[in-house]
Amino acid sequence: MKEIRVLIADDSDKTREIIEKILQYEEGIKVVGQAGNGKEAIAAAERLEPDVILMDINMPIFTGIEATEQIMSRLPDTIIIMMSVQKEADYLKKAMEAGAKNYLLKPFNTEEIINTLQNTYKKEKDKKQQMEKIKEKKDMRSPKSIAVFSAKGGVGKSTTAINTAIAIKKETSKKVIIVDMDVYFGDICTMANVEPSITMIELIEEMAMITTDNIHDYIIETELGVDILAAPKKPEYADYVTVEHAKKIANLLKEDYDYIVFDLDNKFSDLNLAIMDQVDLILYITTMEITSIKNAKLGIDVMKSLNYASEKIKIVANKSDENYGISISDIKKVLERDVDFSIMNNDKIVINSINKGMPIMADSKKSNVTESFRKIAKGIK
Ligand SMILES: Nc1ncnc2c1ncn2[C@@H]1O[C@H](COP(=O)(O)OP(=O)(O)OP(=O)(O)O)[C@@H](O)[C@H]1O
Ligand SMILES: [Mg+2]
Repeated sequence: MKEIRVLIADDSDKTREIIEKILQYEEGIKVVGQAGNGKEAIAAAERLEPDVILMDINMPIFTGIEATEQIMSRLPDTIIIMMSVQKEADYLKKAMEAGAKNYLLKPFNTEEIINTLQNTYKKEKDKKQQMEKIKEKKDMRSPKSIAVFSAKGGVGKSTTAINTAIAIKKETSKKVIIVDMDVYFGDICTMANVEPSITMIELIEEMAMITTDNIHDYIIETELGVDILAAPKKPEYADYVTVEHAKKIANLLKEDYDYIVFDLDNKFSDLNLAIMDQVDLILYITTMEITSIKNAKLGIDVMKSLNYASEKIKIVANKSDENYGISISDIKKVLERDVDFSIMNNDKIVINSINKGMPIMADSKKSNVTESFRKIAKGIK
């Protein structure tokens, strides 16, 4: 086991010497320094970065509590054990609040000091390792959710949603699902050429019983490599989908999917806002037409007023073509921000792919449009 490096901070020279003597014969413990007041303790902690500080509570210049506060803010991994006499017991609560991990009441014997030091060190190390493991696990399975939105219809939201989802799958080989939240006129199944044998309406009917295990019964697996949660089959079912449903569905899917792509319609509806509130990223689509750009500006202003972080919104200029008389830099000027991605205009292959029910990213043919989606996937993965 690694040696425990200890700093002793006490204003009594005698106490420091006694403690150093006790510790010096203990295997696995090394005294790396001494400090005679709170200020010295902070400086020594920064210079020596000890594992443990035995800190007297009552010291001149800075008290042990003040020194603890400062050390915790700069070197939060330091384990501080507070030393005090019985009558200062009230202060101990404050010391623990300041970040001390344990305490020793003076006078203490050799066994007490060594046991407290070793046990506290071990406990804190175990705790840290456990936290790191949890964090690692979380990082490994940290699902990313993306909403594709625009305040205008027909700008390429669904085309972007499905092709971005497939592009992410190709880039990462992770589990990807598209949730067709265009609840009135969902196009995702048509674009993927799948018959929606089951939709979110059947899921919602059983909502109270749905868990991460049985939610798959309502999800369509496709040959495109991405799964689909289909929109209602008819517009008259749309209103059954509530904000609460959407939130619950999103949370359940996060348990099992690495990437969740929501295709939305063009309204600032409660449903869309509930989804946009909780996703990590919004792909805001505009085309190169002045009306679309104007609406994008208004839409982004709404998002600003809702306090969406500007990094959360990525601007996608779709049907990009300099021949239309508007350039990317014109869009930047109107939106007063960067355009994050652009998708080339290519009627022939995009319309063809929709009519064939074969999204361009699922086709093996490369084009300027597939390249655009690959860049989006790389940029957001
Ligand atoms: N990059 C592109 N190049 C050429 N045509 C495109 C491109 N992207 C989308 N389109 C075309 O634009 C039309 C609208 O696309 P899409 O259905 O994806 O838009 P939408 O914003 O989801 O529409 P809605 O508001 O109806 O849901 C389609 O005909 C599609 O083929
Ligand atoms: Mg659409």
